[in-house]
Amino acid sequence: MSSSATGAAKPTVTVTLDGSNRSTRLPVLSGSIGPDVVDIRKLYGDLGVFTFDPGYGATASCESKITYIDGDAGVLLYRGYPIEQLAEQSDFIEVSYLLMYGDLPTPSQLEAFRKGVTYHTMVHEQLRRFFDGFRRDAHPMAVICGVVGALAAFYHDNLDINDPHQREIAAYRLIAKIPTIAAWAYKYSIGQPFMYPRNDLSYAENFLYMLNAVPSESWKPNPILSRAMDRILVLHADHEQNASTSTVRLAGSTGANPFACVAAGIAALWGPAHGGANEAVLKMLGEIGSPENIPQFISEVKDKNSHTKLMGFGHRVYKNFDPRAKIMKETCHEVLAELGIKDEPLLDMAMEMERIALSDDYFIQRKLYPNVDFYSGIILKAMGIPTSMFTVLFAVARTVGWVSQWKEMIEDPSQRIGRPRQIYTGATQRDYVPVDRRG
Ligand code: CMC
Repeated sequence: MSSSATGAAKPTVTVTLDGSNRSTRLPVLSGSIGPDVVDIRKLYGDLGVFTFDPGYGATASCESKITYIDGDAGVLLYRGYPIEQLAEQSDFIEVSYLLMYGDLPTPSQLEAFRKGVTYHTMVHEQLRRFFDGFRRDAHPMAVICGVVGALAAFYHDNLDINDPHQREIAAYRLIAKIPTIAAWAYKYSIGQPFMYPRNDLSYAENFLYMLNAVPSESWKPNPILSRAMDRILVLHADHEQNASTSTVRLAGSTGANPFACVAAGIAALWGPAHGGANEAVLKMLGEIGSPENIPQFISEVKDKNSHTKLMGFGHRVYKNFDPRAKIMKETCHEVLAELGIKDEPLLDMAMEMERIALSDDYFIQRKLYPNVDFYSGIILKAMGIPTSMFTVLFAVARTVGWVSQWKEMIEDPSQRIGRPRQIYTGATQRDYVPVDRRG
């Protein structure tokens, strides 16, 4: 194959099939920032060959205006705004509006959006009964995956994905109800009464309230912890075409309803290589036990045969510090200081691990840096959130990203069902042999 650029205005890539006289010229597309992209859509028609890219490391699956990552520079932008500015100056509801609608809201737009989300936080009372069907010790990710999928059975009035108004209502419902469902999954697991949402609280405060309050006690939000929760939600709100978002888009490309698509996203998020990593980091730190065991653990990680990974390290796109990890580390210190925790052995161990890993050739050569999950578990643990809820919290935050990406996809006129191809390496055609003539 050969490639050539023909002029600055409209570059193309020419692909020639060696050994034949067939070639095709493919357009090169440019986004507003980021690397150019070769449009291979006519490759199969022209040359009869597909492309092969397991894990999609070199394939753009869609056009999107929502989130941009420069993995080499460690940059993350939501609708063009740097994550650092949003984490510092905005809040989760404003960021949700930004992700969904593309621009920062005016004061009245923000107020209307905040109110719209707040007034959809209750779930249908009959949805409560779903929780009773789960074993008490069920993982809350299993519970929220089931219950979010079940929302489709309750909201028949907004399942027509071709109606913009119904899409809008579904988006509000998902963003508003996911904290209620998540908090109830936790309450169910510890046998405490479900707490109904409170409309006088902010999104983050209300979530903490539903997680931590009990009917017999009064409950007041702690501003530092609410701010930390809000920041965690902002940092996790979207991350372009990651595994769970791509799952939501693929499910949505079939015309499936948004509740089913988000349930599919939750299922994909659960894996330890993705959202499950925050839970896995704490498990890993617990198993290492103390700082003197870190060098031994690091050599295990470097041993190919051990299949041990340094959880919370590495990323498909970031080949530099994950900007979210930097903010998480700062927030971690703030939260521990607010809670009067002077000595947190897990934090000490995480920082020592980071120091050792960042000076080790194995990690340097592979450009492995801490990702968002490395410090988030320590903050959440300090805030009293149980480990099994860490990935659930990620799902609560990511729901707005999934919903925004799903809406963008449905509203894209060029949208088609997602349908990858394959290299078939199985048996070629053969004739059936009756069982009595086999062996
Ligand atoms: N510990 C040790 N080695 C690693 C790690 C790690 N955490 N991550 C990657 N590597 C090695 C990997 O073995 C490979 O080595 P080699 O070239 O010798 O075969 C090299 O680095 C390249 O890694 P890769 O597996 O090809 O990278 P990937 O893009 O397919 O995987 C990842 C990305 C995030 C799945 C992986 O880095 C990982 O499993 N990290 C630990 C889990 C984790 O923290 N996940 C959270 C990601 S951020 C939040 C989110 O997405 O939800």
